[in-house]
Amino acid sequence: MKVLVVGSGGREHAICWKFAKSSKIEKVYCAPGNGGISQVAENVDITVDDFNRLADFVKVNNINFTFVGPEIPLSLGIVDYFKERGLRIVGPSKGAARLESSKIYSKKFMRKYGIPTAEYNSFSNVNDALKFLESWEANKKVAVKADGLAAGKGVYMCSGREGAVNAVKQMMDEKVLGAAGTNVIVEEYIDGPELSYLVFTDGETYCAMPASQDHKRINDNDKGLNTGGMGAYAPAPLATEELNKEVDTIIRKVIDGIKAEKLDYKGVLYIGVIMNGSTPYVLEFNCRFGDPETQAILPLLDMDFVDICTAVLDKNLANLKINWKKDFSVCVVLASGGYPESFKKGFEIKGLENIKDAIVFHAGTKIENEKFVTSGGRVLGVVSTASDIKNAIDKVYSNVSMINFEGVRYRKDIAWRALNGKQD
Ligand code: GLY
Repeated sequence: MKVLVVGSGGREHAICWKFAKSSKIEKVYCAPGNGGISQVAENVDITVDDFNRLADFVKVNNINFTFVGPEIPLSLGIVDYFKERGLRIVGPSKGAARLESSKIYSKKFMRKYGIPTAEYNSFSNVNDALKFLESWEANKKVAVKADGLAAGKGVYMCSGREGAVNAVKQMMDEKVLGAAGTNVIVEEYIDGPELSYLVFTDGETYCAMPASQDHKRINDNDKGLNTGGMGAYAPAPLATEELNKEVDTIIRKVIDGIKAEKLDYKGVLYIGVIMNGSTPYVLEFNCRFGDPETQAILPLLDMDFVDICTAVLDKNLANLKINWKKDFSVCVVLASGGYPESFKKGFEIKGLENIKDAIVFHAGTKIENEKFVTSGGRVLGVVSTASDIKNAIDKVYSNVSMINFEGVRYRKDIAWRALNGKQD
């Protein structure tokens, strides 16, 4: 078989890496890919939103199926486009991808299907939003969220009325997030630990992956600016058997809702859960693999990834048993100096040849003069697995310490919650 992976980050490197291990796969292509991905796949110079050229490439090269990494092509309807051309593709349709691409749609969906989530009001008019906030307490925390996709920048956590008013004005008046902020949600603020529950689904049934935790802030102890994710680990001890059972009931409702709405969903669904005290609430849906969670999760998958994709595409997940290693996995992201604000690129990455017991997924690299150089904010994801979390952490950091490039920064406390038993 031949497979095309769409995307260019650490998540897509992990997906390509897993496909490349399959005895059923003869060739992995990745569009557009990155420097590191070229070690396991052939990079194809087509952007993720150029559906026509992507589909032509698949036809000409007799590619058996396509796997979509990021949300943008899904939200733009790549799955619908490929299906119209008779091509097999893993991912939700444009309509189903609204679970991620419209926060208002997803909140309405949650309300309709009795899925626990924070209270909210949505607004399409700035004056209505500001009027609503007039009665908000000055010091009561609140979340203001852009309805559309905003590359992780669409949520403003505000300490009270004034911050929320500013957030609404920035999004709706000043259009700092472009079209994504045309409509907004003002949402009850929940302060609790978060968990990422990812499932494979064929739209009828689903199979859960080990629950993971992302680390969104740039600095240790969850301080500083929000990023695309500075590390992840799985399985997260916070996800006890009891909690998983509760979340399982929620996921069942989501899948039942997807069926009832006749949404065409064959792919990965990411349920972002936040603990409201001891009760799991759904914070958000993503309609694809999470990043960096996927970099931690896929090394734990103890079977051929192609079998899962085939079962998803053939609506046959109910008859597939998915096997996971019993290990723990920790992923530490190495980022460029200055990230998530402005940063320089083009620095040589040194020490990769010294890596012994870790996998290095590339997120923002390219090859220049036969050397890897930095080309993005998040540069690498280094992943180690071990039978206990402490060993996985020790292993990953001993490998991380061997890699260097000018300005490199990374968190030193990935998986700390798992290690010290703290949950927030
Ligand atoms: N790790 C969060 C995301 O993938 O959106």
